[in-house]
Parts: sequence; structure tokens; C-alpha cells
Amino acid sequence: MLEIKNLMVFYENAIAINNINIKCQGGKVTGIFGANSAGKSTLMYTISGIILDVKKKEEMKGGERITVLGNITFEGMDITYMKPSERAKKGIVLCPERRRIFAESSTLENLKTGGYLATKAQAKKTLEYIFTIFPPLKNLKKREGGFLSGGEQQMLAIGRALMAQPKLLLLDEPQELPSSSRNSMPVPFYPSFTMGMSLKTAERFWKGIPRS
Ligand SMILES: Nc1ncnc2c1ncn2[C@@H]1O[C@H](COP(=O)(O)OP(=O)(O)O)[C@@H](O)[C@H]1O
Ligand SMILES: [Mg+2]
Repeated sequence: MLEIKNLMVFYENAIAINNINIKCQGGKVTGIFGANSAGKSTLMYTISGIILDVKKKEEMKGGERITVLGNITFEGMDITYMKPSERAKKGIVLCPERRRIFAESSTLENLKTGGYLATKAQAKKTLEYIFTIFPPLKNLKKREGGFLSGGEQQMLAIGRALMAQPKLLLLDEPQELPSSSRNSMPVPFYPSFTMGMSLKTAERFWKGIPRS
């Protein structure tokens, strides 16, 4: 499903990712483990394409040079230089480190932003599904994101990513989920992604989830 070949990422002359090769199969989980600064988030930004936006922004303001070398293939297509928005349309969805939820928008509004590509009917079904795996969110629909606890925000961030109906869900350090919700997640391997960051293909996660 996803194949990364000889990937290298540099911030100026500093190497953040040094020639890695990864294959992720559909329906399987791939975990990425590493110390602080090992390059896990850089890898997530590179797979989701956000690194290309950061690179462009840096070039426009005359900032640091970011270099990406190697190849990323998703479902047989070379996506190395594809825009992040196009990758999202193909089903590559990032739930970023530190959650990045919209603090002044409500839980429901945050969730809806994740479903911007879905039809109304799809979004409604997925929303119901998210409330079944993260029941606390149902009672917090109207609360501003910034007033949620860390664990609630993490549920919201994962929920928002799920709203986009990912085929490949990238979870960057989602360990702040409250233990009560871990049990309700339909993910038998949940402990594996509490240990750091994991890269996860979604068919299995999506078992029983409405995909049109
Ligand atoms: N925008 C950036 N500019 C320069 N260096 C960066 C940037 N982002 C990350 N780095 C550096 O790249 C290395 C990898 O960082 P990161 O991918 O965030 O690691 P991890 O997620 O594993 O903690 C670190 O040394 C970090 O300081
Ligand atoms: Mg990180």
C-alpha cells in the first residue's frame, strides 16, 4: 500500500531522515519507534506531504533549505511530489503530534473540518461511528476545543482524522488517550501505538466503518 524507498530529509545540512526504506501493507500496522529528535514527525510530514508546504514557505521567506530525496509510492502511484491536499483525497490522513485542534471551535466544528471531502451522509455516518468509539466526545459536542482536557483533545484529533475516512492513518504520538477510551477502540494492537508514534493502515481500523 505504502512504499518508501531511500528516503532522506535534510534541514539545511542537518540530516533528519537518513536513507530509510519502509513497506506498509493494507490492513496492517507499522510502528515507528525512536528517541526524541529521531525524525518520526519529519517522516509523518514527509508521507503526508506537509514537508513540501513547509519547504515552499521557507523558500518564500528566504529561510532554511529543506531537501527531500527518495521515493514514496502509495497504491502504486508515486506521490513524492504530490500536494498534501491531493494525498488527503487519496486517503492519506495525518493526526499530528500535539493534536493541533482548533481551540476556539467546538468539538463538533473540529470534527466537521476533518470531513470536508465527505458527502453529508458520509460525514453523518462517520460522526456516529466516532461517537461510538469515543463516547465522551458526544457530550462535549458544543465545548470549545481549547477547554477540553488533553485526553479529550487527543480523542478529538483522532476523531477529526477519521472523519476524512483515511485509507492510511498516520498517528504521530497519540499516547494521550485516556485508558477508558483505549478499551473502546476497535484496535487490538492499541498498546503498540501508545508507545510512541505509529503509522497505521486503516482497513483494519475501519472494520465496520461506513466507507461509501
Ligand atoms: N523545521 C525544522 N527546521 C530545522 N530542524 C528541524 C525542523 N523540524 C525538525 N527539525 C530537527 O529534525 C530532527 C528530527 O525532528 P523530529 O522529526 O521532530 O523528531 P521526532 O518526532 O522523532 O522527535 C530534530 O533534530 C529536529 O530538531
Ligand atoms: Mg515528533
